[in-house]
Amino acid sequence: MRFKAPKGTYDVLPEKAEKWEFLEEAARSIFKIYGYRPIETPIFEATELFARGIGEATDIVQKEMYTFTDKGGRSITLRPEGTAPIVRAHEEHGMSQWPQPVKLYYAGSMFRYERPQAGRYRQFYQLGVEALGSNDPALDAEVIILLLEYCRSVGVKEMDLLISSMGCSECRSSYIEALKDFARERISKLCPDCARRFEVNPLRLFDCKNPACGEVLAGAPKMIDYLCDGCRVHFESVKGHLGKAGVGYKIDPTLVRGLDYYTRTTFEVQSGYLGAQNAIGGGGRYDGLAEELGGAPAPGIGFALGIERLAMAVEAESGKIPGEYELDVFVVAVDDSVRVDAFMLAQRLRGEGLVAEMDYLGRSIKGQLKLADKLGARFAAFVGPEELAAGLCRLKNMVTGEQEDVPLGGAPAYLADKVFEEPVK
Ligand code: HAM
Repeated sequence: MRFKAPKGTYDVLPEKAEKWEFLEEAARSIFKIYGYRPIETPIFEATELFARGIGEATDIVQKEMYTFTDKGGRSITLRPEGTAPIVRAHEEHGMSQWPQPVKLYYAGSMFRYERPQAGRYRQFYQLGVEALGSNDPALDAEVIILLLEYCRSVGVKEMDLLISSMGCSECRSSYIEALKDFARERISKLCPDCARRFEVNPLRLFDCKNPACGEVLAGAPKMIDYLCDGCRVHFESVKGHLGKAGVGYKIDPTLVRGLDYYTRTTFEVQSGYLGAQNAIGGGGRYDGLAEELGGAPAPGIGFALGIERLAMAVEAESGKIPGEYELDVFVVAVDDSVRVDAFMLAQRLRGEGLVAEMDYLGRSIKGQLKLADKLGARFAAFVGPEELAAGLCRLKNMVTGEQEDVPLGGAPAYLADKVFEEPVK
């Protein structure tokens, strides 16, 4: 039997992991510029947190959670998303006493038992932000702009921003009545899943992927036409801020987000380069979630994006993502008598901040040079008995082939000057 990564999961091999590191570092630095601070929450939580937070009737809770009973008899779920855990942590640690709003960012694996396909996995990696403690529409605009700016900064040029409003509990209930009236008359044309959704949570009718149901629902009433005055003013203000900032958007009243906690603003950033799973990231406001989870009221807004889809979009548009491995110096030991000296030179080179490698398999000089070449080393530093006796080290520029002897003691600083002053690219 040969083991393989479980269905819907994958290994992130170094070449890809380096690109992801670049993307994640870029995210962390822009999130910080906007005042967000890092937070980490557990990978698993009480099942009830997600059932209540995301909504019993959602596809995520109904079919996609990795849920098990632990040895203490508790029902545990691997987190399918990061917002409910952060709202739980906000309440648990009294963050409403911190300076408001509390702005947090996170990065980590999420788990959903979905049907795997390109851009859709069972374990995937999200980067996200959450801002809690304010319902100011400026914050909605800021969060949306942050998502767009970040994507642009790493090389996504073409993307669509879709926005909508889900209203509040009050205007939503009159909308749900209208939607129910509409669906009730057409229930025989809807699939059995939709018939169930109609009973449990009619808003989830829009989750259905069945084209026939899609056709029926195309004529359904739109939430956006049922907004109460407060929600309408809020939505107008979000749009106003986006307009002032020169951000283009499309209003999509059918924007279906797969989570029930949204109130007011919802948004998604989509790329035409991604195929069926075209959402790079999305989010929205969740002003009722803290209370839903049994805590004090705390309005909030945030987004999450999937790094796999972001990387796909960047590569499709820009061709490459920086971050690849670059070897500055390969230390060549000319014979066995100087291996410890070669080891020490490699250590000193690393002390200068250079990426240094050496041979650990007893290769010949030729073998070592071949490896240096394969690894793309910019320089080779030869350590040999004769050079050592003379206090020297021979350096070879692997690109031009030029060679020179330099004092061994000064070689690391000398090479550091060369490498840091003349970047290859
Ligand atoms: P979401 O739309 O479910 O929202 O996920 C956000 C992003 O995660 C998606 O746009 C997509 O890029 C990525 N993603 C979701 N599922 C998968 C999957 N199975 N495979 C690969 N990538 C996936 C949330 O999770 C909310 N917590 C976002 C949020 C934050 N709302 C408010 N604050």
